[in-house]
Amino acid sequence: MTQNTTALITGASSGIGRELAIQFADAGNDVVLVARSEDKLRELASEIEARSDRRATVITSDLSRPEAVDQLCEELARRSITVDTLVNNAGFGALGKFAELPADRQIDMVMVNVVALTHLTRRLLPSMLHKNRGGILNVGSIAAHQAGPHMAVYYATKAYVLSFTEGLREELSDTSLRVTCLEPGPTESGFGEDSGMGKLEMFSSTTMTSKAVAIAGYEGYMKNEDVVIPGWKNRLMVTSAGFLPRIATRKLVGKMQSA
Ligand SMILES: NC(=O)c1ccc[n+]([C@@H]2O[C@H](COP(=O)([O-])OP(=O)(O)OC[C@H]3O[C@@H](n4cnc5c(N)ncnc54)[C@H](OP(=O)(O)O)[C@@H]3O)[C@@H](O)[C@H]2O)c1
Repeated sequence: MTQNTTALITGASSGIGRELAIQFADAGNDVVLVARSEDKLRELASEIEARSDRRATVITSDLSRPEAVDQLCEELARRSITVDTLVNNAGFGALGKFAELPADRQIDMVMVNVVALTHLTRRLLPSMLHKNRGGILNVGSIAAHQAGPHMAVYYATKAYVLSFTEGLREELSDTSLRVTCLEPGPTESGFGEDSGMGKLEMFSSTTMTSKAVAIAGYEGYMKNEDVVIPGWKNRLMVTSAGFLPRIATRKLVGKMQSA
């Protein structure tokens, strides 16, 4: 890499985000690591700085708070950091019926998975456009391709991520910016236990490692692919879902997720 570039990764304290941060640092980028868990971020920053000559900056932020993105951008400005690549990875899910899951957890999910992702993109995109370099890697999910009874809000947030990413990609097609949506399927990370999905057969029988998902995501982003779905089983699932009527896929998913 000839230029000094910086990638900001949200949700870098664990799982896919942690591995994406390592990928970007190993490829020669300085990294900004964002999440709530300061200890985990500091540990990762030390690991990255020990294995490469890249700088790893830690900024703790709870992205469910409405003021979080403005505060994060103020912190970037205070440290004179310009972001070339934004990796919107932070996110979480919750298995259960909409009417029974706590309201605040589901609202926070929309705030992190959708609002913070959109706000951060809007705040950081102008400087990328000004330099005509860099881009956005949004982490969606194969859940984007059908409705998800017993996890309705999560699936809806990921449908937003895919639609937003594709729309933005088209708008920026006459620039040099990359815009990619990484859509993992079941992946070993904190997500399975935190969301409750880990106990489901459909999840635990098909997991990939966070490292494999991150490598696919990083490579797909560098090739400026529009959508990256790691793993042939996940690609097969998404392709098959495309042939079925939406009523069939939502009934199937509803059945699997109520087990
Ligand atoms: N694992 C899967 O099976 C799977 C499948 C499809 C898509 N995905 C997507 O992949 C992305 C990464 O998830 P993962 O699998 O790596 O799970 P993970 O290990 O649980 O990591 C989630 C990351 O998001 C951060 N995060 C959560 N809430 C946050 C908040 N309020 N503010 C700031 N950061 C927050 C967490 O950090 P802190 O807790 O430190 O804040 C953590 O770093 C998510 O968008 C998820 O939806 C995962």
